[in-house]
Amino acid sequence: MVIPAAAEIRAVEDYWNQRPCNIRHSPKAVGTREYFDEVEWRKYFVEPHIPAFAQFERWRGKRVLEIGCGIGTDSINFARSGADLTIVELSENSLELTKQRFDVFGQDARFIHGNAEEVDRLIPEGEKFDLIYSFGVIHHTPDPRRVVEAARRLMEPHSELRLMVYNRWSWKVLWIYLAYGLSNLSRLRGLVARYSEAQTGCPITYVYSDADARQLVAGFDVLGMWNDHIFPYEIEPYKRYEYRKTWYFRALPDRVFQWLSHAAGWHKMIVARPAPSPAGV
Ligand SMILES: C[S@@+](CC[C@H](N)C(=O)[O-])C[C@H]1O[C@@H](n2cnc3c(N)ncnc32)[C@H](O)[C@@H]1O
Repeated sequence: MVIPAAAEIRAVEDYWNQRPCNIRHSPKAVGTREYFDEVEWRKYFVEPHIPAFAQFERWRGKRVLEIGCGIGTDSINFARSGADLTIVELSENSLELTKQRFDVFGQDARFIHGNAEEVDRLIPEGEKFDLIYSFGVIHHTPDPRRVVEAARRLMEPHSELRLMVYNRWSWKVLWIYLAYGLSNLSRLRGLVARYSEAQTGCPITYVYSDADARQLVAGFDVLGMWNDHIFPYEIEPYKRYEYRKTWYFRALPDRVFQWLSHAAGWHKMIVARPAPSPAGV
């Protein structure tokens, strides 16, 4: 059955409205300063590779477009570092929480509610960005390539695209198959979407090999592409804000764990720049 594009994007929006990304990263009252501080602490404790990837300080005074902010942990750090920040987010509830976060910390950004597949139409004509940043977002939209193409139109030759999409050949995909797939191999394709996020039932989650990722950013020069991030904690204690590594990760020396994260991490990090157009095109 073919699902119409409008229904698909509505399903994605509904899913992220029901439970904005990372909303349970703190048990404190949602929307308070203490809540947002704890959300940030937990996010960068569990995903410590993010600040080095985003390079927040590098974008002081630069025009940054963030696609898919969730509840705004990276966004607030771009703003604190002095970036001139625009955010496009599909989920209104997520965007509202991000706005609240900016109010709480006295920071400023331009907030746009909309579908990043048409991001170039949401931005005033002629505006360009130095950085377009999107972490863990476009693999959830029906047509990720449309996002990349639309983003490309908002970039100049020096601009940078920093993207994270999920890695097909990852420990996480293997874990999903082992945990949920063996009983019914015919369902394998839908399983990754179902179990990719904290809340089950994500309508769309694509995963990418290196070759898939290069196709996704066709028309860009890839400056860097690597994998990172294996979640090493036991799930039930983690939900109670306790951090106990699963026994086999406890047994692994740090260096081996780092090696495994680069070989089979869930996050495929991509840094790219628009490729010069062929002469005469
Ligand atoms: C896994 S969360 C990541 C949020 C944030 N980047 C972070 O790292 O915490 C995915 C986010 O992408 C947003 N999203 C999904 N499809 C989108 C689209 N087509 N346009 C804009 N935002 C989208 C969702 O609403 C959700 O907030």
